[in-house]
Amino acid sequence: MGKIIAISNQKGGVGKTTTSVNLACSLASLGKKVCLIDIDYQANATTNLGINRSNLKASSADIFMNKKKAKEIIIHVDRVNIDLIPAKFDLSNVEEKLLQDDDKNYVLSNALEEIRYQYDYFIIDCPPSLGLMTTNALMAADSVLIPVQCEFLAMDGLTQLLNTIRYIQKKQKINNRDLVIEGVLLTMLDTRSNIGYEIISEVKTYFREKVFKTIIPRNVKVAVSSSYGLPVTEYSPKSKGSQSYRNLAKEVVENNEEY
Ligand SMILES: Nc1ncnc2c1ncn2[C@@H]1O[C@H](COP(=O)(O)OP(=O)(O)O)[C@@H](O)[C@H]1O
Ligand SMILES: [Mg+2]
Repeated sequence: MGKIIAISNQKGGVGKTTTSVNLACSLASLGKKVCLIDIDYQANATTNLGINRSNLKASSADIFMNKKKAKEIIIHVDRVNIDLIPAKFDLSNVEEKLLQDDDKNYVLSNALEEIRYQYDYFIIDCPPSLGLMTTNALMAADSVLIPVQCEFLAMDGLTQLLNTIRYIQKKQKINNRDLVIEGVLLTMLDTRSNIGYEIISEVKTYFREKVFKTIIPRNVKVAVSSSYGLPVTEYSPKSKGSQSYRNLAKEVVENNEEY
């Protein structure tokens, strides 16, 4: 049964999408069967993989609107050998509809049930909020990976995220499940300045062994790759950014040997 990892932090621009795309592709290079799920209305993960949103017939919105099953939406991204549930939607419509749904927190979880055995890993790229889309992702997830940018105010808002995780854990207990923290990933480290290293020490003091050994450096190839519709692991396989995402994938696999 595939492991479901939600990539979440309600702060924007911390590297959620970059991590989702590159972790998914790096896991696939390690021979894992991976399904990446884009539930951010900005659809950056979808675009970063070179998928043209205007040509899409279906998207993750159709799951939330109860219009289509997951397997009717999945597309295969040949170049990186992953499956993708793409996004293209008007979030306001979706959230409005969800609010009226009795099962509003469980729509994604229910939808993934029938494809769970087809993959080793599911990676969910969450939007920058703790709204219904994120609660759906966390409710479906076995674990949450929290990217934290090595910048001033990095820990800002994390208390709120941790409270949300605790709330989900309580709800999941009813279904005999337990959301765990997969790890905290330090991203965009500027190796030339001290502030980044200060943040690393602050985050490690707080999260201890939950912090991934792999740290993602700020790397221009990472920033540029998305505009070419490629993960950095394809655009510039030898770059520091690429190497670090491959190391992250190895670390995740080592921590989850049963998957
Ligand atoms: N390691 C990195 N080095 C350089 N730029 C990065 C790196 N990681 C992400 N970026 C850039 O930072 C911006 C925000 O990253 P993104 O993954 O979209 O964050 P989020 O999904 O949390 O909003 C994007 O423009 C992305 O290309
Ligand atoms: Mg994003």
